[in-house]
Amino acid sequence: MTHRILFVCLGNICRSPAAEGVFRTRAPHHTTDSAGTSGWHIGDPPYGPMQKAALARGIRLDDLRARQFVAADFNQFDLIIGMDADNIADIEALRPAGNQTPVRLLTDFAPHSGADHVPDPYYTRDFDGSLDLIEIAVEGLDAHLRG
Ligand code: 4NP
Repeated sequence: MTHRILFVCLGNICRSPAAEGVFRTRAPHHTTDSAGTSGWHIGDPPYGPMQKAALARGIRLDDLRARQFVAADFNQFDLIIGMDADNIADIEALRPAGNQTPVRLLTDFAPHSGADHVPDPYYTRDFDGSLDLIEIAVEGLDAHLRG
């Protein structure tokens, strides 16, 4: 079954494009996109150090471009996945009346990691640490979608 999955972070240049890249590489039959709750980087490619860290794992991000999350996304996707609690709050603030699209944390799909958010490597500079967690959680997401 094909699912429509949207990954969301703050800037849409580090965590959510990385999650999109890992997921589309692992499960290319789904429809996948990513967006930022801010409009700070609209049109920008993923952040260079994140592209480099992902490519070292065989994950290409270079074709992706940042866009801002919009209320209409609730009607375009089956599942919306944020990276931290701020993302979830900013997403929920745009939910249209009556819409019931599930919104989850990516770390919900990595219950054994002990993490309750994906740390922002734009600030931590630990691109590999965030990618490790994203890869574990995307594996869990893939298993979840397979039922
Ligand atoms: P992201 O990381 O939300 O994982 O894309 C960030 C990237 C840029 C900024 C903040 C977070 N910024 O402030 O420009």
